Amino acid sequence: MKHFFRVAVLVAILTVLIGFGLDNSGYMPALASVQGAAIDALFRKHIWVISFLFSLISGFMLYSFVAFRRKPGEEGDGDHFEGHTGLEIAWTILPLGIVLYFAFLGAAALAETRRADPNAHKVTVVGSQWSWRFDYEDYGFSSTELRLPIDQQSLLTMTSTDVIHSFWVPEFRLKQDALPGEGMERELRITPTVIGDYKLRCAELCGLEHAYMVSDVIVMEVSDFEKWVAEQTEGPSDDPIERGELWYEQYGCQACHSIDGSDRIGPTWAGIFGTEELLTDGTTIVVDREYLIESIVDPQAAIVEGFETIVMPPTGDSMTEEQIHDIVDFIESLAE
Ligand code: CUA
Repeated sequence: MKHFFRVAVLVAILTVLIGFGLDNSGYMPALASVQGAAIDALFRKHIWVISFLFSLISGFMLYSFVAFRRKPGEEGDGDHFEGHTGLEIAWTILPLGIVLYFAFLGAAALAETRRADPNAHKVTVVGSQWSWRFDYEDYGFSSTELRLPIDQQSLLTMTSTDVIHSFWVPEFRLKQDALPGEGMERELRITPTVIGDYKLRCAELCGLEHAYMVSDVIVMEVSDFEKWVAEQTEGPSDDPIERGELWYEQYGCQACHSIDGSDRIGPTWAGIFGTEELLTDGTTIVVDREYLIESIVDPQAAIVEGFETIVMPPTGDSMTEEQIHDIVDFIESLAE
């Protein structure tokens, strides 16, 4: 009996150490959806059962290695055992009960992830070899990135134009295949809980570039989401300054030029309009319309002192004349 007591203590200690270690090992990225909470709760229970089963086996083994090792001079065979009916019944009934219990928990978690909100935002997710498209049919536009409002449920309807893909954002925990064919649509409901940028990865081997079938997922404040939807549906605004701000973001100007005076690789746009600047050739210029247009079209033509080592790409090449004028209007609006 003292052996059983010692083994029980050993198993209990091992279970706590392993279970606590695994539970706190950060084996999953931070949770970012309501539905994922049910999955995480399930994972945690599994972790503890796994820790106990592992400790049960390795605990008995470790103890036996030490307590029942051969003594010096011992030559005979060990005791002979002929089964143990009680033990056999126990190790059949107990695991059966645990498996049934987890089947119940799994079904409950599945139901939890499918709880429907009638006001859910509808987005159709279309997988293709090898990219994702998101159709916001209620608003009548499509996007290459998935933007979702925080704390509101989105109903994603999955489909595919060719082969089976799989929608997977690890922080949301849920995964759903996107199947090709009429009537093969599958649904997934997600209520994001943390503002931020995530990656959607295809989780079904779908061909040569499967590994690169990645899209941006952006969880936004509801007001930002509504603003984004309005921008997508209304087209460019009538106000050249607002358009200029949009080009500032879309053409990547913001990577090098701040609009709040802070330092980035290039000069900030805040208050730059109308100032006098010393050029690298020793002359001075006034930052006016003409100089700004030249700087966008031919960035290396006249460089302001202190920025001579920075090579700006000729961004103007990919913009229309009107867009360049919009940008200059936007810079002028930042003069105050
Ligand atoms: Cu699509 Cu893998």
